[in-house]
This record gives sequence, structure tokens and C-alpha cells, in this order.
Amino acid sequence: MSTPSVKSLTPEIAPRRARKPARLHPLPLRIMHWINAIAIFIMIGSGWKIYNDDVILGWLHFPDWIVIGKWAQYGLQWHFFGMWIFGLNGIAYLAYGVATGRFRQKLFPIRLREIFATVGDALRFRLTHDDLAVYNAVQKILYLGVILVGILIVITGLCLWKPVQFSELAAVFHGFQVIRIIHFLCMAAIVAFILVHVTLALLVPQSFVAMITGGPTMRGAPALAAAPAPVAPTPDSSQ
Ligand code: HEM
Repeated sequence: MSTPSVKSLTPEIAPRRARKPARLHPLPLRIMHWINAIAIFIMIGSGWKIYNDDVILGWLHFPDWIVIGKWAQYGLQWHFFGMWIFGLNGIAYLAYGVATGRFRQKLFPIRLREIFATVGDALRFRLTHDDLAVYNAVQKILYLGVILVGILIVITGLCLWKPVQFSELAAVFHGFQVIRIIHFLCMAAIVAFILVHVTLALLVPQSFVAMITGGPTMRGAPALAAAPAPVAPTPDSSQ
């Protein structure tokens, strides 16, 4: 009779390959976040230059010092350049968020009770972000919202860029001018998000630093994909 190999006898107790514990914001997420910030800067600045050429609101022209591109044509070139970075990086971020379970873990669930409590705290200036590992209900809504708006601005952008090739998609929006307006409103929503988001990041400097350094390592979260339940891990205070 042949002797079973040690390997086959002890699968459960075989030493697991040591994995580095995950950080609050893993490296791929940080890279994608900052690439996105640069891409958004290019997209908005160049988009404003293109908009100036054919304004939607008669009273709204963006001053030259704030736009990207000396002429509308240059603005367009910048816009197309930023579009690839924003689009590809966005696809990578969505895939990462779904595949690692980060979206499920960080952005869900959103409970009505939690929303009221967070808004109440904010109105009484008692909103804190002591535990960086957990997003409050308003943060969850803002992040989910900006992700959805990001998807919509790409879809409407595609319809504006290639109205013939994407004619069936464009038809959903009932015309070119409607698509322009939705694209513009998405931009306005993203600008509003950035104003709130950057203000909050500066008000809680440790959250800003964590988005650069990765923040604390997370106990019980060696890899987000391995986390069994959507429970937010707590920072490892022993580190
Ligand atoms: C210079 C500009 C920006 C700064 C300083 C900044 C800063 C930060 C910080 C500090 C966090 C972590 C928040 C926390 O721990 O509470 C964060 C997360 C996030 N930011 Fe930004 N951000 C910027 C631009 C943007 C832009 C332009 C977008 C999208 C349009 C964006 C979308 C997000 C999202 C979705 C998250 C959550 C990421 C996740 O946990 O999966 N940020 N940002």
C-alpha cells in the first residue's frame, strides 16, 4: 500500500502563505483615486472651454483663466485625452470595487435611520469621522451618487462624441440637446461633489493623509475579497 503524501493528509493545517494585511485604502484604490482626480480636472477644465463655444445658459461663460485649452479645438483635444484616462480608470475602479467586495463592504447597506442620524449630527455640527474605516450614511450616498453620475456622464459623452454610432443609445435621451443638458448637469453635480468632498477631506486631515499613505492596516481583513460578511473592519491599533 502506498503511503499518502504529507500534503494530502494535512490540507487544513498546511501553513497558509502569509499575506500582507490590507490597508484602509489599498494601493490600487489610491492610484485609481488620484488618477481619477487628475482626469476629472482635465475633463472639467477642457469641457468648460468647449462649452464656452456654444453656451447652454446665456449668462454663463467660464473665464479664460479657469479653462483648459487656448482655443475650443485645443479644449476638445484635451477632453478626448482626459476621456480615455477617465473612462479606462473608471472601468478599472468599478471592476475592482465589485471584484474585491469593497463596494458591498464600504457603501452598503444604507439605512434610512442612519441617514436621519447623520444629517441630524451634521446640522448640529456634531458630525465626526473618528473611525476612518466606516463611511457614514451621507458619505455612502455621496460616493454612490458620484459613481452613478460618473457612469451617466460617460454614457452621455459617448452619445455627444459619436451620435451616429451610438444613435440607439442617444434615442433613449430624446435628442442631442437633451443629452448636452444632461451631460452639463452631471458636470455640475460632480463639481458640487468635489467642493463638498475636498472641504470634508481637509477638515479631517487624517482621512486625506490616509488616501495618500493607505492609512492603518485592517485587523481581520487580509484581503477584502476574503472577508465573509459585509462588516466594516476596525483599524488595527497595535500597528
Ligand atoms: C483633489 C481632490 C480630491 C481629494 C483631496 C480627495 C480626497 C479623498 C479622501 C481623503 C477620501 C477618503 C475619504 C474618507 O476616508 O472618508 C476620498 C475617497 C473617495 N473619493 Fe476623493 N478626493 C478628491 C477627488 C475626488 C474626485 C474628483 C472624485 C470623483 C469624482 C472622488 C471620489 C471619491 C470616492 C468615490 C471615494 C471613496 C473611495 C472608496 O472608498 O472606494 N474624489 N477622497
